[in-house]
Amino acid sequence: MGRGDADPRGRGDSLIPGPAALSAAAAAAAAAALLAALLLLWLEDAGPGAGSSMAKTEALPKLREDFRMQNKSVFILGASGETGRVLLKEILEQNLFSKITLIGRRKLTFDEEAYKNVNQEVVDFEKLDDYASAFQGHDVGFCCLGTTRKKAGAEGFVRVDRDYVLKSAELAKAGGCKHFNLLSSKGADKSSNFLYLQVKGEVEARVEELQFERYSVFRPGVLLCDRQESRPSEWLVRKFFGSLPESWAHGYSVPVATVVRAMLNNAVNPSGKKKELLDNNAIHDLGKADDSLKP
Ligand SMILES: NC(=O)c1ccc[n+]([C@@H]2O[C@H](COP(=O)([O-])OP(=O)(O)OC[C@H]3O[C@@H](n4cnc5c(N)ncnc54)[C@H](OP(=O)(O)O)[C@@H]3O)[C@@H](O)[C@H]2O)c1
Repeated sequence: MGRGDADPRGRGDSLIPGPAALSAAAAAAAAAALLAALLLLWLEDAGPGAGSSMAKTEALPKLREDFRMQNKSVFILGASGETGRVLLKEILEQNLFSKITLIGRRKLTFDEEAYKNVNQEVVDFEKLDDYASAFQGHDVGFCCLGTTRKKAGAEGFVRVDRDYVLKSAELAKAGGCKHFNLLSSKGADKSSNFLYLQVKGEVEARVEELQFERYSVFRPGVLLCDRQESRPSEWLVRKFFGSLPESWAHGYSVPVATVVRAMLNNAVNPSGKKKELLDNNAIHDLGKADDSLKP
């Protein structure tokens, strides 16, 4: 302010705020930041695909019936994992496909009669091009493949969660697959600084470039299940979410059974959209649309 300028507050007070004013300003800034963070979280969870809706509940039996009549063929990658095996079980119970093929690195054994017509293709994921025939002739594909950095190291994680998934998607597309379903993760972001989220975001984007007729991406939060394999840190996180009120845990975690129901309820429902992105809330919403599976 120049010498002759009027004091804007007209009382000759210093323009430098005192400590009280500063702490009030800091508190207001913190409150605004908190509000903005909450708003961002809410916006993230209400993203595309959210609210796919319970309104479809009554239509589901009819949608399933229509879907069965089309005698479609399906493949599952990762059917030995927590999500994949529940998915397989539910596909069999709903009798949705005329042919089911599991593509994996080892042959799985099933005792139940219901699994007797399930085909299995054992492949070497390091030489997937040699197994192109395993990916041929499926209408729909579900990819529930994945590992952890702890288990496979950073390089091994990228190999499985990006390279194996992408190569499988390429072969599936070449083999005629029309609807590819990718189990990704909440927070997937190809520009993330976190390897896990970056790889998930990158693989989502690269599979999209393959231009499937229909491409559905599922981004669940922490998967709630009684995991067969011991993963202490994941167990702790699950316990934490299990102890929270349901409405709080809802945004950040989801039972595997709900993810599976959401995947199937979505698949039987014809969509005009080329790409669908179902976030954790949308998965809860669509996965709750009937009660055929206990969470
Ligand atoms: N855990 C969570 O809270 C969480 C949250 C959000 C998203 N996700 C994502 O959801 C997906 C499924 O998770 P999940 O917990 O159901 O998976 P999971 O139980 O760990 O099962 C992973 C599947 O991938 C296969 N696999 C792992 N390493 C492999 C390798 N080197 N070569 C070939 N196959 C391999 C496994 O086969 P084998 O049985 O032969 O090992 C298994 O079928 C993953 O992509 C994961 O990142 C997980």
